[in-house]
Amino acid sequence: MSDVLVVTGGAPLQGEVKVRGAKNLVSKAMVATLLGETTSRMFDIPRIRDVEVVRGLLELHGVKVTNGTTDGELVFDPSNVERAGIDEINVHAGSSRIPILLCGPLLHRLGHAFIPELGGCNIGGRPIDFHLEALRRFGAVVEKAPEGLHLSAPDGLHGIKFALDYPSVGATEQILLAAVRAKGVTELSNAAVEPEILDLIALLQKMGAIIKVHTNRVIEIEGVPRLGGFTHRPIPDRIEAASWASAALATKGDILVRGARQADMMTYLNVFRSIGGEFEVDDAPGTGGIRFWHPGGDLRPVALETDVHPGFMTDWQQPLVVALSQANGLSVVHETVYEKRFGYTAALNQMGANIQVFQDCLGGTPCRFGRMGFRHSAVIAGPAKLHAHDLTIPDLRAGFSHLIAALAAEGTSRVHGVELINRGYEDFEAKLTGLGARVSR
Ligand code: EPU
Repeated sequence: MSDVLVVTGGAPLQGEVKVRGAKNLVSKAMVATLLGETTSRMFDIPRIRDVEVVRGLLELHGVKVTNGTTDGELVFDPSNVERAGIDEINVHAGSSRIPILLCGPLLHRLGHAFIPELGGCNIGGRPIDFHLEALRRFGAVVEKAPEGLHLSAPDGLHGIKFALDYPSVGATEQILLAAVRAKGVTELSNAAVEPEILDLIALLQKMGAIIKVHTNRVIEIEGVPRLGGFTHRPIPDRIEAASWASAALATKGDILVRGARQADMMTYLNVFRSIGGEFEVDDAPGTGGIRFWHPGGDLRPVALETDVHPGFMTDWQQPLVVALSQANGLSVVHETVYEKRFGYTAALNQMGANIQVFQDCLGGTPCRFGRMGFRHSAVIAGPAKLHAHDLTIPDLRAGFSHLIAALAAEGTSRVHGVELINRGYEDFEAKLTGLGARVSR
């Protein structure tokens, strides 16, 4: 199938979409199945590329993955975990960053792990120094080779006291997945406490882990020798939900996002409301969700900064900026999680948006990236009339924002590289068509 989507903009997106389990939890939960000695079962798994990648990696390591009886249900049998070939791992890992999280589980199960070169979106340096430092402290021996990382644990893994320099989501998950079966107690300070992490902790607890989340971002894990499987329904994808909400605002539309949950989106909802968007929460179990709409009239500008939870998520930023290009006045967005997450604004400017990016920490408190030369603050002047343009999708979230811009613009845009969006948005093309968007390959 062609990788180019032809998008004719100008029509409001209207209707409903459904979001399923959060990509950034489901992929980690799948890795956790390796730690158990019995079968795990998970529901509501979206059909996205990142899930396929992790499934492939698990199968290469001997985990039997089968479809359950309901749509989106997978069953994982880890009773025959085995070493996988380096070439095969490299082929399967694709552009994902998840393989790094297999370290702890594979060291516990096999005493050895091979981790390929990591992919992921090009939004900053994305180092893995916290991961490797923690793993070494747990007792892993890490050898770097041209094909990737070889890890072994000749004396097993032992609990550690560790403080993260920054509350990294991935490093927190790495430490959880290593500590649950390490000998002794691990105390992690300055941990990330995103809802996806708390959901990972919940399912590890179902497996038999002992994990205490203290105040002040301290997590204490008491290692246990053995874990069982889990049965789990993951939290919904709050990034996808917010992406559709921003799309409703940018196209003057009205979208009911079934499955979206208010509790995980409080910060986004506050911003959505201050800009002038309206929403209504339906808590009905199974069928509920949040309806987001543009009530007509002018949208208001906003100043915000992205941050770790409970702050405004960095992944909510890109689709929202498209909506802010339609607000009446100057908005300021200070990105404090990734140093290079405004590259996508150049394409929006070619479409008529008026966005300037700055090296300074604008509108908020100084962050790690101040005075380092990274253009990590954006000033968005609106309202701007967007017009069609040929676009090439740079990464997942930026790609979705380009799509929204094309849908809000007048005329027909050709969007190249749309396959990237499948990494994190299930059936996005069918969902767009269902919302009345004029898109074709
Ligand atoms: N960092 C380090 N050293 C490390 C690890 C992280 O300096 O060893 C820095 C990063 O460079 C970055 C900051 O810490 O500046 C935060 O990175 P974090 O580790 O929290 O991010 P991640 O675990 O790689 C996950 C999500 C991202 C999401 C971030 C922040 C997954 C698979 N990815 O990334 O999601 O933006 O947390 O919430 O869970 C996406 O879904 O499109 C996406 C990029």
